[in-house]
Amino acid sequence: MDTQPHETPTPEVAVAPAVDKPAETVEPDESKAIEAAEEAEELVAEHPDADPEEDAVAPLDRPAKSIEGRRVAIGVDVGGSGIKAAAVDLDTGELISERHRVLTPQPSVPAAVIASIARIVRRIGQEVQLAPDTAVGVGFPGVITGGVTRTAANVDAGWLDFDADAAMERVLGRPVHLINDADAAGVAEMRFGAGVGRRGTVFLITLGTGTGSALFYDGMLVPNLELGHMEIRGRDAERRSAAAARIRRGLSWKAWSADLDEHLVAIERLFWPQLFIIGGGVSKRADKFVPRLTVRAEVIPAKLLNDAGIVGAAMAADERERAAS
Ligand code: BGC
Repeated sequence: MDTQPHETPTPEVAVAPAVDKPAETVEPDESKAIEAAEEAEELVAEHPDADPEEDAVAPLDRPAKSIEGRRVAIGVDVGGSGIKAAAVDLDTGELISERHRVLTPQPSVPAAVIASIARIVRRIGQEVQLAPDTAVGVGFPGVITGGVTRTAANVDAGWLDFDADAAMERVLGRPVHLINDADAAGVAEMRFGAGVGRRGTVFLITLGTGTGSALFYDGMLVPNLELGHMEIRGRDAERRSAAAARIRRGLSWKAWSADLDEHLVAIERLFWPQLFIIGGGVSKRADKFVPRLTVRAEVIPAKLLNDAGIVGAAMAADERERAAS
């Protein structure tokens, strides 16, 4: 038995393989992806800037930064309220472009979201010298199998059974790989953040618009775990445990901690993890709720905070590209 878990070498963090499609899934309608891609291209042509409202995206007055010798991918994190992206150094987890954030278009239909991503990626290409085949990883708040978005709890229903990898590749002109957003954040935390060197069963729980979950065993990801939707008190658990639930319901930190605790205790009863890592913007306020949690496992805040989703998505894209070549 491993009695010194902290002294064992860091396991190589592995990203879920792309060939994870269950036997019976609806084949995505190819024309939907083409239509959305064409609509996205029109939107970008109308408004080529990352965010036409902000001065910060005025044309750059300096040449794109050289990234020679560095392994780089672009990471994008699509959330219920914002889309964030940057170029990522894959060996250090460092962001090597500006970190961009624009509001998630409402309604968050595929064409509008893809157009926003295309604008930001274009902007990043003005900041750093990307190779034409630099891959783009997109963390998305839903189940992804084989590049197809399967659920859409906090985004527009147009994403259901949508061939997102194909539509985005068409618009971005680069290899694109989607990954569940919590899985992306988990991969980054295990490699560069709070999970480094942590073996056994580790859960990353992201608290945002919804509640995301990523399960690792000895550093190996089990993809698409949807514990935000386990049933507690007759409803999806994320309706009470997500960070947005505290604000929506006007709860004190104490009251919300009790709701979150109920969710974590239910997960613990089923999976017995050694460690919970709490991610999402709210992890900055860990002092407000972590001391109130009653689970037996250790609970620590994520380290990469809002960058985890970006970094992990970039890592996943790179790993899949390498697996495919
Ligand atoms: C989605 C998950 C996602 C989580 C966090 C949930 O509603 O079903 O796939 O990881 O929200 O965004």
